[in-house]
Amino acid sequence: MDIIIKKNYEEMSKYAANVIARYIRTKPNCVLGLATGSTPIGTYRELVRMHKEEGLDFSQVTTFNLDEYLGVGMDLSKPYDLDQSYARFMYEELFKHVNIKKENIYIPDGLTKNPKEHCEWYEEQIKKVGGIDLQLLGLGRDGHWGFNEPGSSLGSRTRVQALAEETLDDNYEAFYKRANIKRSEMPHFAITMGIGTILEARNIMMIVNGYKKADIVAKCLEGPITSQITSTAIQLHSGEITVVLDEEAASKLSRAEHYKHVEKMKQEYGLE
Ligand code: GLP
Repeated sequence: MDIIIKKNYEEMSKYAANVIARYIRTKPNCVLGLATGSTPIGTYRELVRMHKEEGLDFSQVTTFNLDEYLGVGMDLSKPYDLDQSYARFMYEELFKHVNIKKENIYIPDGLTKNPKEHCEWYEEQIKKVGGIDLQLLGLGRDGHWGFNEPGSSLGSRTRVQALAEETLDDNYEAFYKRANIKRSEMPHFAITMGIGTILEARNIMMIVNGYKKADIVAKCLEGPITSQITSTAIQLHSGEITVVLDEEAASKLSRAEHYKHVEKMKQEYGLE
């Protein structure tokens, strides 16, 4: 596991965008797993910059998003403040700014009439394209990936999940409050890839910033593996794992100095 500690959010975002860009450049038809939330916004902005200024080419890239609220979906005829869907978020933050093909974008459909069937279909699509090369992940304050709330099985698959109170609070503050939507009116359920689905991605990269995530970062990376903190499953992944943190998010890691030392040595020896 590579744990990279960067000075601030901007540097964390640039590093993460560079990792993603490297995948796209070495395998132009790569399959990326993408995340939402406030954390990846800087990473997406940097990718957009690379597309515009350096010609980073998304024309053969396929993407699968982790999750979507149930009951919302991208309806572009609606005014923005009425649609807080993750589909809308992805479109606004990344997709509309790069040359990705619409048919290569997969996001769970929050407006589906048959969630169970849709979840199975979603899993099949991931298999059909040969699996995910790199899955980008944020981290919820209760330690979730996607919407795999505490108690989700570490082998779980794409399914409907009820949101924890803490998650509703955080996501209300971050997205729904700004759109003048009452907390009681925001979706309380979501479709999410499971932990088992995420672990099948060949490589994963988790990005986390800010002091308020410092406790959960330490538990996730250095604590015991438990379904009460679903992201501790990171310790079970067999591929390349990159964790990019800012100083604040890394501040409660007991081995932070060691991770910094390893990173420095790798740079000195020219190891990626
Ligand atoms: C939501 C998303 C997660 C994300 C988390 C953290 O719950 N479903 O994928 O990691 O928020 O969000 P933020 O980056 O805004 O802290």
